[in-house]
Amino acid sequence: MKIQVPATSANLGPGFDSCGIALAKYLVVEVIKPQEKWEIIHHLGSEIPSDENNLLIQTALQVAPEIMPHQLRMISDIPLTRGLGSSSSVIIAGIELANRLAHLNLSAEEKLTIATKIEGHPDNVAPAIFGDFVVACYDEATEQVLSVKHYFPECEIIAYIPSTELLTKESRQVLPQSFEYKEAVKASAIANVMIGAVINGNLALAGRLMEQDLFHEKYRAKLVPHLSQIRQICQRSKAFGCFLSGAGPTVLILTPKEEVATLMDQLRLLDNHAQIEQLAIDREGVQVF
Ligand code: HSE
Repeated sequence: MKIQVPATSANLGPGFDSCGIALAKYLVVEVIKPQEKWEIIHHLGSEIPSDENNLLIQTALQVAPEIMPHQLRMISDIPLTRGLGSSSSVIIAGIELANRLAHLNLSAEEKLTIATKIEGHPDNVAPAIFGDFVVACYDEATEQVLSVKHYFPECEIIAYIPSTELLTKESRQVLPQSFEYKEAVKASAIANVMIGAVINGNLALAGRLMEQDLFHEKYRAKLVPHLSQIRQICQRSKAFGCFLSGAGPTVLILTPKEEVATLMDQLRLLDNHAQIEQLAIDREGVQVF
């Protein structure tokens, strides 16, 4: 059995903690055989545990404590601590692992609620489960996560992935503790129109609003100085817009095809250690083969 989970990009600017898209980069977990102790064969570096301390096993055991240890192989091309949902992908794989090994028959909605409780917010885990574009929120009354999946309009996506990492925790510490009422109303109106524009397939309008976030990007600007440089490059081109991917440091640029080559050339000049990649939308979310 192999579990495949896509990378994700959360927020899309003003859709802070609620909007996300799935991207065609993947974590694959292969279940090899049952054995005495949990073992994960991987090449992700010595800091990533290879035993039951790995987030994958921790998550699986939280969902189904009775499952028997297995030998697993973990392969991922999702960069770590870059704002592309690497930890969410591991959480979703862990939930799916428990689901299959313990025959839980969890629905996608149940997986989403479990994942959100572990991750803290649904914006990465929801598209990792459903694929495509997902808007989600936690419903306090029922303690469930409510979500809507919709087709994300076809466009070119360029990811500017800095060589340095940024921990989500660090990137959340710079956010304000409270937010003035009028500012919140303004910020949420921008997010609402952005979502409407995505659903309408109007990327020109969606991209413009993705750049007008009031919830988080300006507070994080000092941690991600390349964001304003990339925004200037985008604004001089016909790109639809750019935004910080999740908590950063990656920046995603949405653009029509004819701008890709010029944009990539200009982005390369910013920092030759950064990885610049074209990514596609994943439409399926988590899959088991
Ligand atoms: N919405 C989250 C944030 C995504 O921006 O902090 C990262 O987990």
